[in-house]
Amino acid sequence: MDTTPAGDIRDKLIIGLDVPSVDEARRIVGRIGDAATFYKIGYQLAYAGGFDLARDLIADGKKVFLDLKLHDIGNTVEEGVRSVARLGATLLTVHAYPQTMRAAVAGKAGSPLKILAVTVLTSYDEQDLLEAGYAPGTKPADLVARRAGQARDLGVDGIVCAAPEAERVRAVVGPDRLIVTPGIRPAGADAGDQKRVVTPAEGIRLGADHLVVARPIVKAADPRAAAEAIVNDIAQAAA
Ligand code: C5P
Repeated sequence: MDTTPAGDIRDKLIIGLDVPSVDEARRIVGRIGDAATFYKIGYQLAYAGGFDLARDLIADGKKVFLDLKLHDIGNTVEEGVRSVARLGATLLTVHAYPQTMRAAVAGKAGSPLKILAVTVLTSYDEQDLLEAGYAPGTKPADLVARRAGQARDLGVDGIVCAAPEAERVRAVVGPDRLIVTPGIRPAGADAGDQKRVVTPAEGIRLGADHLVVARPIVKAADPRAAAEAIVNDIAQAAA
């Protein structure tokens, strides 16, 4: 059962459990305690026992974002999403192809699960799109806007995008869809392989509803303090 009070500011922070084992993830979640309410499980942990962890987190009243970036034939996506909805996850990603998004929206019907569309992977530039068979001159930013519009029209609940894209995506999807943004670094933190980072406060000001933060918390000497500092930053920006 979810015990998080409605409108809890902690819900704005989604901690990416990007660690290799469920044991390590459980240790981190235990240390963070009630400083956070929302966790993301991606490929690395999902394929290493992460679904059992997801069930346990949900049973403990936490929210879970399954970052599975689904994409398959419609029937397979729809049934897969139905299983994720039964598990009790709060957020699930799919790639923003119209057939896939339509199937995902059908699969979550009647459940509180929200579908997020990944428009264009941020590791893709114009050359990658050309190599993948897109028309010469196709720009990632234009494809992001086009797919965000399709996601909105098909009833998808939100979009994952980098903070610098959030304003443009918001203009396309309107106020009612979720914008979820990775690439967040507290002031002074190591950017790692993220190229365009913003602080938590900037992410909120740019229009993100939720921020995804992994390394600055899961690799911190004190993950609880790191999470608390980010929630405070969010609270100040949201005030
Ligand atoms: O460690 P860090 O805070 O950079 O992790 C960000 C999380 O967000 C990772 O789980 C990463 O896979 C995810 N993500 C991202 N950039 C995207 C999409 C997802 O960093 N464009």
